[in-house]
Amino acid sequence: MKPDTPEQPNQGAEWWRDAIVYQVYIRSFADGNGDGNGDIEGIRSRLPYLADLGVDALWITPWYLSPQSDGGYDVTDYRQIDPLYGTVDDATRLIAEAHAYGIRIIPDIVPKHTSIDHESFRAALAAGPGAPERERYFFRPGRGSDGELPPNNWPSMFGGPAWTRVVEPDGSLGEWYLHVHAASQPDLNWATADVHDRFAEDLRFWFDRGVDGFRIDVARGVAKDPELPDLPADGSYPQPHPFNDQPAGHDIYRLWRAIADEYPGDRTYVAEMWSSAAEQAPYLRGDQLDTAFNFRFLFSSFDAASLRAVISDTLEALEAIGAPATWVTSNHDFMRATARYARPPQTWDGEPGWVGEGPVDSEQGARRARAAALLTLALPGSAYIYQGEELGLPEVEDIPEADLRDPTWEQSGRTRRGRDGSRVPIPWSGTTPPYGFSPDGLTTWLPQPAGWGLYTVEHEIEDTSSSLHMYRSALRIRRSLPALGVGTLQWLESPADVLAFRREPGFVCVVNLSGENVAAPDGMQLLLSSAEQPAGHIAPNTAAWFVDGRGE
Ligand code: NOJ
Repeated sequence: MKPDTPEQPNQGAEWWRDAIVYQVYIRSFADGNGDGNGDIEGIRSRLPYLADLGVDALWITPWYLSPQSDGGYDVTDYRQIDPLYGTVDDATRLIAEAHAYGIRIIPDIVPKHTSIDHESFRAALAAGPGAPERERYFFRPGRGSDGELPPNNWPSMFGGPAWTRVVEPDGSLGEWYLHVHAASQPDLNWATADVHDRFAEDLRFWFDRGVDGFRIDVARGVAKDPELPDLPADGSYPQPHPFNDQPAGHDIYRLWRAIADEYPGDRTYVAEMWSSAAEQAPYLRGDQLDTAFNFRFLFSSFDAASLRAVISDTLEALEAIGAPATWVTSNHDFMRATARYARPPQTWDGEPGWVGEGPVDSEQGARRARAAALLTLALPGSAYIYQGEELGLPEVEDIPEADLRDPTWEQSGRTRRGRDGSRVPIPWSGTTPPYGFSPDGLTTWLPQPAGWGLYTVEHEIEDTSSSLHMYRSALRIRRSLPALGVGTLQWLESPADVLAFRREPGFVCVVNLSGENVAAPDGMQLLLSSAEQPAGHIAPNTAAWFVDGRGE
């Protein structure tokens, strides 16, 4: 497929309303230079695969200069590419080549924190207490008789307190700095004009090079209550919250919208927010961001009542403001869907990587993940596919402790293994590691397990019953059927453990979450199914797409 113009595919259309966005976790996607790490060359070399798969855009996790203490979410310079991944020229070439395939590029941007190696944090450390350089971050004296206690009770997302005490330039123990994530990720103070100005230039730097938008990391946590008040001791969620959804956050995104609007075509912002659609709506009214990930859908266990509720609540909240839904079932922060759905239904407890308790049935997990994919791709709005999800890739649950890289492992005092199990380099070909990810004989940055020969692209392309085959068919059908993509859905009457909905014209999706076969809809033709179906029925833990004469 060719772009409408050499610069930007599909100028003008609000393409993000129903885009299929493929998440590239860059370090684990494809290794172009043979060092065991994925990189920009690797992505370029796999553009034909992505075009064949049928995706509209790539979200690429942070590629900026970084010590990689948190997978690149600790940025040293937003206008340089980390040498691990290539150069700015490589990135510019990738953007142009992807556009020639009709694929848009959405890099990550990380505005909440920098790396401790960022020159402005180094300058703040060197300048000492009270210096203006410290105002770009949150430096505060400690509590206690000697400042030996953190300034407030905020916890870090990765374990321990959200504060670290610094050694001042004179060698004494001094102030503390805030890091809601890892100690290597100091939070920026967006109440300073300088921080605004620098990010405005960072965004323009990449828009100038043709990117189609940004995925905004921790989008609701960027602005803080300047008083930095304690969180309630009873663990309840305060309203307002001191570091989530602060009013000043909306002002930041209004400015960012104006920056995107300086550029031709339709550039987009997608927010990483773990909140409900109703809580996200104030950001999505047209003057700030376009879409926000629907993690409530990801957090939902595989049961009909819970999925129906989150789908209905999402559509209701977003339709009221004219914003599209954005469905997600996996990413690099959570256990893969194949492993989550292998466990009995349970409620997510707020911990990234958490999978709950209970017996593990991997076959069931794989079957349900495929059903969830057909559900997701049939819902109104946009959807994300996390690399390897299209292959039905399992989680790697037994990475040796010595190989774990997620900062959660160390910062939690080695009590939480973290998220590495979903970040293992993906398999492309062959039957043994590195499975075509890197040249033969190389060890990848996270070790790959034995047995992944069954999940390689090479293997699945040949197998018409594979997960990859199903995804390719689903994306092709989605492009050709007028009922799919933007629009609405109507729930159909169905048994309690079955989800069935209609989309006009003439499309029905049925997901059977019960333990029994259920009857297929009368008078409709089966178009696609997540597994083989008994005649006239839909089997347990599967989904199927149907059309009547009007749907084609
Ligand atoms: C969300 C990212 O997806 C995650 O990987 C990262 O650790 C945190 N934000 C902090 O930047």
